[in-house]
Amino acid sequence: MSNGLSLFHRKFFRKIMFKDFLQFEAALENRKQNRTLRTLETRKDGVDFYSNDYLGFARNNEFQNLLLKTVQENPRLLTGSTGSRLISGNTETVTKTENFIAKVHQYESALLFPSGYNANLALFSALPGRHDTIIIDEKIHRSIHDACKMSNCRKLKFKHNDCDHLESILKRQKGKIYIAIESLYSMDGDIAPLPEIAELAERYNAGLIVDEAHAFGVFRYGFVDQLELQRKVLATVVTYGKALGTHGAAILTNNLMKHYLVNFSSPFIYTTSSHDFLWMSIFKGYHFFNENRKLSTQLFENIKIFRNQNIKTPSHENSPIQAIMIPDNEQLRRLKNTLSDNGFLAYAIFSPTVKEGTERLRICLHSFNKTEEIIGLTKVIKDFT
Ligand SMILES: Cc1ncc(COP(=O)(O)O)c(C=O)c1O
Repeated sequence: MSNGLSLFHRKFFRKIMFKDFLQFEAALENRKQNRTLRTLETRKDGVDFYSNDYLGFARNNEFQNLLLKTVQENPRLLTGSTGSRLISGNTETVTKTENFIAKVHQYESALLFPSGYNANLALFSALPGRHDTIIIDEKIHRSIHDACKMSNCRKLKFKHNDCDHLESILKRQKGKIYIAIESLYSMDGDIAPLPEIAELAERYNAGLIVDEAHAFGVFRYGFVDQLELQRKVLATVVTYGKALGTHGAAILTNNLMKHYLVNFSSPFIYTTSSHDFLWMSIFKGYHFFNENRKLSTQLFENIKIFRNQNIKTPSHENSPIQAIMIPDNEQLRRLKNTLSDNGFLAYAIFSPTVKEGTERLRICLHSFNKTEEIIGLTKVIKDFT
């Protein structure tokens, strides 16, 4: 006997482990064969055309110093919250930040999370019940698919940004219905017909939920706010790890929904709340954002410079995400490597992250990209395609 296990049990477990490893190895080998294996690469030096730091806040010294000063004045912000929000983790900082966020977004309530993935998991796993239906745009973010599995709800898909198809599905439904969309799509860089979808949701009495992960901070506080659709959108998710240069996310909704999530949403309840530094950096981030509107102007100027180079793309003309469709995996890989050899960091998206045949180069534009960098990038792309 060793480790409390008999020889029989050790042999037994080794056999089980061995079988399981074979299955994992086969799955990885399969990815390797398809040339779709994912690996972790340490961030390289180069011109950033791949991060979601659209306004350069994450690299902004002024913002960093503001946060540094804040923690120097109150080092307790840096250490752990000590418990779930429902036990010891509900601090004055998180409550103050939520109240502030709800007010600026003109919603009754806000509920904070350590990431957008967590916020979506919390929202979509708790709201639709097993007898409810959720109709999602076919290009919706993975976090929402994962949450739907947790909720066991009935999930239907409508064609990307296609209101007629959405309506044809809505017409056939009974019972409680939810609709889930993104406002600015993360992989295609195109924009949802939000007013039309909000109108459909209202007409068919469906709860509309909008993920504004990529729109928040680029299009002010997001499209729901810009179009004043708060009363027609049951819940909006904004994230802070992209344009705000910090981390975390908020669900914006009414008091009843917040109260319901606090009571019934497992990803909210059964976890230690984040340290106060996160909530404080979000609070400071909103103020920094409002004091630095010139960075948004610079971002839109850079998007215009990129668009003026006449690269073929399905993305919206004002989107910081510009997709270049290259459905040939090998060609895409070569382009990505050529860009990297020229000092440009861009992200190639292979299936299964996107559907097979829709692989693409995803260019993210930023306020800090220089004109010559954008022109240099597009020259390499043009020479290649
Ligand atoms: C549309 C969308 N929703 C949610 C998320 C998750 O947000 P986070 O990165 O803060 O977890 C992402 C992140 O890529 C996203 O693109």
